[in-house]
Parts: sequence; structure tokens; C-alpha cells
Amino acid sequence: MVKAVILVGRLQKGTRFRPLSLEIPKPLFPIAGQPMIQHHFEACAKVPEMKEIILIGGYDSDQMRRFAQKMQKEFSIPVRYLQEHESLGTAGGIYHFRDQILSGSPECFFLFNCDICCDFPLVDLLKFHREHTPADGITMMGTDANRKQAVNYGCIVENSDTHEVKHYVEKPETFVSSIINTGVYILSPNAFAHMSTVFRQNYEGNYRDRPMSPVRDSISLEQDIISPLAGTGKIFVYKTSRFWSQIKTAGSAIYANRLYLGLFRQTCPERLTVNEADQPTIIGDVRIHPTADINPTAMLGPNVYVGPGVVIRAGARVKESIILDSAELMDHCCVLHSIVGWHSVVGEWARVEGFPCDPNPNDPLARVNSDTVFNDEGRLNPSITILGKSVFIPPEVIVLNSIVLPHKELSGSYKNQIIL
Ligand code: GTP
Repeated sequence: MVKAVILVGRLQKGTRFRPLSLEIPKPLFPIAGQPMIQHHFEACAKVPEMKEIILIGGYDSDQMRRFAQKMQKEFSIPVRYLQEHESLGTAGGIYHFRDQILSGSPECFFLFNCDICCDFPLVDLLKFHREHTPADGITMMGTDANRKQAVNYGCIVENSDTHEVKHYVEKPETFVSSIINTGVYILSPNAFAHMSTVFRQNYEGNYRDRPMSPVRDSISLEQDIISPLAGTGKIFVYKTSRFWSQIKTAGSAIYANRLYLGLFRQTCPERLTVNEADQPTIIGDVRIHPTADINPTAMLGPNVYVGPGVVIRAGARVKESIILDSAELMDHCCVLHSIVGWHSVVGEWARVEGFPCDPNPNDPLARVNSDTVFNDEGRLNPSITILGKSVFIPPEVIVLNSIVLPHKELSGSYKNQIIL
């Protein structure tokens, strides 16, 4: 049997996802109509040997536990949420909870970053792990990026015959390799032996230098484990050419929304809305919650998700956007490349628009720009427009490429601004 562990992070992380992460833990933010990590669950549920899914993170909200219960019911697989009381790092958390992960003696376990979107090839990854990786080893899933963008990720140098990882550098200063770490791994139980060595070194180092200082028990999987183990025959890379992207900024959420809706078209088209007589016009991939109320003269798509209780009135136009629960789009308003927050209202004839930094469609190795919302001069990068929760946009104004914090009532038009 195998298990899966999803690292969900903590409230203090996900800062680039604000203001949306002020309202909901980032891993639960809806992408293509379901929480970001529900996509991970759907992929895990397709692995026949999957016996348990464990979430590890620092959120103390009941929300995470309720979500775990809901997933357990939906996928009929035991799901647990294990709470870290301090930030333990990407390896520290799994090391801390190793007894729970190894209970029942799994053959190995999948490990996922929560903030990625992917057409997860888990069955193939498991097959590769069984065929290539030693009993105390780690399999990383890698993918290709272009030379310019690769340096923003963990870079993997492989032996192209054996697929052994010879060298691993996290966000190198100069080009190292175009194979990047996707944040999906399989670990054998004996991989904990390497973590134990690092943990002991940290502990002893702290103890010798500063006897009264707390133990440094935050361990990074990438820097403290994978980097030193590269070239020792313990780490192997499985390369995927399926879609993959990080979800760091709200702008990348729009891109992930598009990718998952496209996947649904192939795997579960019943989730998407189709054109019908006396119903709103649908262009491309659109998912609409059954409780949304949409005027038949509205036009939606491509790549739109409309959440529960949303009202969209006559003549409204929505494209490349996520409209969150109970928002209201009034007559003839236009929402493009934007996220409209819970209970927000966009007035009649208003225009809410973003300028996304989508990857170059002519470069199959280009990745979505997941950098910060600010550029080096501290100015807002071209991104999307985000309306936080309960924002009111008056009729006939234009809001371009701006972030509006929750509970704001705008009085005019804005461009390239953060409205506090
Ligand atoms: P950044 O570009 O700086 O965000 O780095 P990154 O993309 O490598 O992300 P990071 O290493 O910070 O996080 C990778 C994944 O691990 C994300 O899904 C985080 O939510 C999760 N994560 C990071 N640190 C912790 C931690 O201390 N505990 C847990 N449980 N999860 C973590």
C-alpha cells in the first residue's frame, strides 16, 4: 500500500496570494470550482494502492479539519490533518510526523507541495519509483522550463541514461539545468534515515554553539536533504511533459483555473456548462455552480468559474475570471482576467480588467510568471485585477490591473493601484 502527504503550509505563508488568503487558507482557494488541493485528492484517488492521505500544516482553523473529513467521505480514503505548531520546513513536518506516516507500513508515500497545479501522472511516477529508485531513495518529478525561467525554480541535473539526480540547486543565480522540480515526490520509508542525520546535526550544532537556544528543527527537503544527497545514487528524477504550474500569486490562480478547466474538458466534461436555448452564451471552458443565477443575455468564457450563489445580470460579460461565492455582477458590466471576491458587487456598465502575464504561447517551455506582484522598483507588475471580499464597484467606473482590499467601496476609477 502507498500513502500521500500534502504540505499545506501555514497562514504566514502565501503572502503573494493576498488579499485572497486573508479569507481562506490558500490550499482551499477554489481553482476550477474546487479547493486547490482537491485536485491533488482526485489524482491520489486514482492510484489503486492509495490507503491514506495526510495533510500537514500550521493552520489551526477548523476549516482544514472539516475539509479533511469532507475529502474522506468523497473519496472513501482515510484523510487526516496533522497540525504543526511551528514552521518545520518542507522536510521537518514529515520527519516530525514520521510515525503517523509510516503506520501500517506503506511501501512508499507521495509528497506534494499544495500550491501547484498539474495533470498528475501518479501511476506512472509510482512505476518509475519502483523500477529506478533504491529502497532508501527519493523520486522527484521534474519538468522542462526555458533557460531564462528555470533559475526561478529548483534545478535538477540528471544522468540522462539512468535518470539519477547528479546535482540539485534551489533557485540558482545562473543557468544550471532546464529540468525543474515540480514539488511532487515519492519517498521510501528509509529516506527518513537521511532526515534523521540532518536533524541530529542541527540539534548538535545548536546545542554546542548556544546551549540555551531552541533546536533548529526546520528542515528543508530541497536544501537540506535533496541537495546533499544528489550524486550519491539515492535520488532519481521522473520527467513529465504534462501541464504543470505553480500557484503563488493570484494571477497564477487564473492560469491554473484555465489549465484545470481544460483538463475537465478531456476527463469529466459533465462538470462544464454547455450552450442551451434560453441560457447564457458560453464560450470555451466554463464551470458554473448550480446555485448561481445567470441572466440568459450574459456571455461567459472562455475559462471562467462562477461560484455558489453568484448573480450575473443582463448583458454582463465575463472572461478568464473566477467569480467567488455570492458576488453580484450588475447589468452590462465587464469582468476580464480578474478575481471577484466573495459578496462583492460590480456595478452596472463597470469594467474590471487585468493584464495577465501569461506564458508565451509560442514557447511550450515557458511558465506562468509567478513572481511577486511588485517589480524591482517596487511598482506593481502587470497582473490581474483582484477584488477582495465584500468590495463595491460603483456603476460605470473602470478598475484596471488593481488589487482592492476587502470591504472597500470605491468612488471612482483606478489603474495599477493597490487600494487599501
Ligand atoms: P517560494 O518561491 O519562496 O514560495 O518557495 P517554494 O515554491 O519552494 O515554496 P516553499 O518551499 O516555501 O513551499 C513549498 C510547499 O511546502 C508549499 O506547498 C508550502 O505550503 C509548503 N511548506 C513550506 N514550508 C512549510 C512548513 O514549514 N510546513 C508545512 N507543513 N508546509 C510547508
